[in-house]
Amino acid sequence: MDKERKLVIAGNWKMNKTVAEGLDLVNGIKRECKDVKEVDIVVCPPYTALSEVSKAIINSNIRLGAQNMSENNYGAHTGEIAAGMLKEFLVRYVILGHSERRQFQKESDELIAKKAAAAHAATIKPIVCVGETLAEREGGQMEKVLQTQVRGSLAGLTPEQMVETIVAYEPVWAIGTGKTATSQQAQDAHAFLRSLLAKQFDDNTARRVRIQYGGSVKAANARELMSQPDVDGALVGGASLEDRSFADIIKNSI
Ligand code: PGA
Repeated sequence: MDKERKLVIAGNWKMNKTVAEGLDLVNGIKRECKDVKEVDIVVCPPYTALSEVSKAIINSNIRLGAQNMSENNYGAHTGEIAAGMLKEFLVRYVILGHSERRQFQKESDELIAKKAAAAHAATIKPIVCVGETLAEREGGQMEKVLQTQVRGSLAGLTPEQMVETIVAYEPVWAIGTGKTATSQQAQDAHAFLRSLLAKQFDDNTARRVRIQYGGSVKAANARELMSQPDVDGALVGGASLEDRSFADIIKNSI
């Protein structure tokens, strides 16, 4: 598939996989995807597996991501992890503002913007998640919700930082539900997000930002989703927990 932007496909393992299980998984992905050059492949294990997974992917085409980080650099923040600590394990990406964290940890757009700034300061690329709930979509609020999230959670970034930021469009109603957005719904939302980026930054910046789709992505729907002009990759939850299914998503996207 000839795309304007390089596809980036990331596996969000969420709170799954022991170190041993994570190593099995990443070694399987490494084997299955060793010849893939067309896609940036990212795995996001839980913190506890970062060290070993990091070692396992040295000299491979797989990059490491974390699922969250603190907006602070150090200090009295019990239970938190700073960007500098992630750098020790060669973490290149960090998922920020996932809808589960927005919902259960009450993360605000303002907090996510602070985390994105801290990630950039450590040269870690943030994957900033946005997306509407079913009630918001059905109530005709989708555009307003996305606008508020984009404005707030990408506030303060320079155009140069924005180009190094990935936006993940994850309609909350499609996450872990088996209900994927249709490729047209995804394309429409992505094009709308890109228009917001053009307004907030500029046309050239907006054209260069990669926007991932997330929400029940699997091998069977990856090709159709990735063929949309404004869909530049995927953030995959459930289907990233098994090497074959994650590898098939990647292979079907090329
Ligand atoms: P899912 O999760 O692929 O299991 O729907 C996606 C995500 O939450 O990032």
